Amino acid sequence: MKVMVTGGTGYIGAHVVRGLAEAKHEPIILDDLRASKRERAGSFPLEEVALEDTAGVVDVFARHRPEGVVHLAGSISVGESVRDPDLYWQNNLAAGSSLLLACALHPVKTFLFSSTAAVYGNTDLSPIPETAKLQPTAPYGSSKLAFERLLHRSAPSLGIRSAALRYFNAAGANPNWGVGEDHEPEEHLIPRVIASVVNDKPLHVFGDDYPTHDGTCERDYIHVTDLASAHVKVLEGQHLESGQSFNVGTGSGTSVMQVIDSVGRRLGRSPIVEISERRPGDPATLVADPSALSQQVGWTAQHSSIDEIVDSAVTWAQSRD
Ligand SMILES: NC(=O)c1ccc[n+]([C@@H]2O[C@H](COP(=O)([O-])OP(=O)(O)OC[C@H]3O[C@@H](n4cnc5c(N)ncnc54)[C@H](O)[C@@H]3O)[C@@H](O)[C@H]2O)c1
Repeated sequence: MKVMVTGGTGYIGAHVVRGLAEAKHEPIILDDLRASKRERAGSFPLEEVALEDTAGVVDVFARHRPEGVVHLAGSISVGESVRDPDLYWQNNLAAGSSLLLACALHPVKTFLFSSTAAVYGNTDLSPIPETAKLQPTAPYGSSKLAFERLLHRSAPSLGIRSAALRYFNAAGANPNWGVGEDHEPEEHLIPRVIASVVNDKPLHVFGDDYPTHDGTCERDYIHVTDLASAHVKVLEGQHLESGQSFNVGTGSGTSVMQVIDSVGRRLGRSPIVEISERRPGDPATLVADPSALSQQVGWTAQHSSIDEIVDSAVTWAQSRD
């Protein structure tokens, strides 16, 4: 299937593109490179267009006529969304509507959207099922939830089968694909721990008094290779009912200290840890109940033990030195 991948030169998008190609699909990247580099496209076709350029997006669809869309492009920082909410409503909700217009003019069959665990906000449920209350705490999660709803509500009249994938914590790198995580600025834990060790800089851990087994926050880390395979499975799951949102995670939590220990084992030394105040809005635990995706498309994570994730992230970081 010919698949338009927005944000396909980003961290997760670059993996999804390669996962699609390995499964014999034909990915085309739509990305204006605002948060990535051209090299990430590799040999895949790249349309350097901003989502905000509606005429440009429609023209790309007219030329390529994709059957599927995977929409990953967006702004991704919870903290930035609190400082600049307009950017998030513009990029994560309004800009996506040009894709729906392009789909109305040049029909596609399936549309997958990259959503996030942030749509749940603070919840006491663990693991979290898709039926949990949706109460995002920052414009990042609210803007993602708003696009999920816009997509699912527009899809029937456009003849599209829609699905939203709510990623938990994407991490790691595929060892065979030559791409990995390097956001600027980097806010994600695993690359920050690796950088602290390599650069001999202290690592700030926000709070060690949470109600978890070691007092630090627990998250559900999902290997990007597993994320890529989830996209392929959902795209190919023709029997799936349209308008569904699925958690993509493992069902088990790993604490900040467990991540630090794993990096320490892999590198043979650990960072100096400095405990800071809790960050407002950080839930103690965010762990997916991934059973819907497993039951409906037969997907389960295969590479997401914390040691496999950390090993792949370190290998990729070292390959860049
Ligand atoms: N990284 C995670 O752990 C995580 C977790 C949950 C959800 N997500 C979602 O997954 C998606 C990808 O995340 P990522 O970590 O790969 O981010 P990323 O910043 O590495 O990639 C985003 C890509 O989108 C492009 N882009 C952004 N806005 C654009 C626009 N208006 N027009 C054209 N291109 C644009 C950027 O240039 C970049 O290549 C995002 O939608 C994010 O919200 C990520």
